[in-house]
Amino acid sequence: MKKNIKIALIKGDGIGIDVAEAAKETIDRVLEIKQLPQFDYCEIEAGAGYYQKTGLDMEPAGEEMAEQCDAILLGAIGLPSVRTPEGTEIMPHLRLRERMDLYAAVRPVRAYSNSPQRLSDPRATKIDLVILRENTEGLFYTASTSGRLQVANDYEARETLRITRSNTEKLHRFAFRLASKRKEQGKNALLTCVDKANVFKSMAFFRKIFDEIAVEFPGIETSYNHVDAQALDMVRRPWEFGVLVMENIFGDILSDLGGGLVGGMGMAPCAEIGDYNGLFQSSHGTAPDIMGQDLANPLAGILAGSMMLDYLAEKFDYESLADCSKLIDRSIERGFDESRLRPCESGGDMGTQAITEEVIALINETGS
Ligand code: IPM
Ligand code: MG
Repeated sequence: MKKNIKIALIKGDGIGIDVAEAAKETIDRVLEIKQLPQFDYCEIEAGAGYYQKTGLDMEPAGEEMAEQCDAILLGAIGLPSVRTPEGTEIMPHLRLRERMDLYAAVRPVRAYSNSPQRLSDPRATKIDLVILRENTEGLFYTASTSGRLQVANDYEARETLRITRSNTEKLHRFAFRLASKRKEQGKNALLTCVDKANVFKSMAFFRKIFDEIAVEFPGIETSYNHVDAQALDMVRRPWEFGVLVMENIFGDILSDLGGGLVGGMGMAPCAEIGDYNGLFQSSHGTAPDIMGQDLANPLAGILAGSMMLDYLAEKFDYESLADCSKLIDRSIERGFDESRLRPCESGGDMGTQAITEEVIALINETGS
């Protein structure tokens, strides 16, 4: 058991700042209730705002500082109005993914009771799946520091999608372990490999490695789906899926679709996991259109904080932190069951502050 857990806190820009603060506040409270030592936070400045002030996207030595912490809690980064000379947004967190090899982005898509459903089918209340997005290569390889095999001039723009055996083996093993864990919990454990193996060699390779790893996990039921058909099925029958493993840009796109199914991106947390570190954030952006108005739904950030507690529990074999994570999850479930969580994002009447306060009240009631 480790006593002084160190967390890198990168609030970022826009609503990222609000949701990171909400997540931290919730974690502080839950540790207090469980009578556990508070975390040491190391705040790191990064993002579009910081770039505007300094010309740097992250404070000097920020990457090293983040790497030395036990986990990273991030709000959201980037503003459409602040761009690099090449026209892209400020995204230092892509370097963190690359530096720490955070290859597995776990993005749960879960429907809560009494929260507005986009789909009228009553089975939509049962949606509980996980998108496992490959997080360091695929088409995003092109945006990495080593991936500049690209052409970008006024006549042509060409970028590179990369799938490696070493990374894909790790990703698929992660997917099968995740499915096994869900099976133990009595959840839908069907593992679907989402690709475009009918057209791309890289995707046929991705699927071939999936088949190879499947042999190691005979107890897990598997299927395949092409990404276009998966988009259709995410709307037509999302309740039938358990874990969906896929290449980076596919996961980026389908995780937004997933958020849309269950109330919006404010319901979409993300854990980016590597072999020795993890970064936890909501899957949404900085939402400049609603920033500073107390309108953001902080639940994705808070749920990401809960995933961080679960990760730390496993990393340090510190079971009490898993209890903290469960307490947050149960409190949020209860909040929806009792219609006490009604985010503005999905037509409710509660903004960032009200939701955070209510989650903390629910934690107090549920945990004591
Ligand atoms: C996400 C976001 C990021 C990504 C952007 C902001 C770089 O869309 O986490 O899904 O594409 O990975
Ligand atoms: Mg995205």
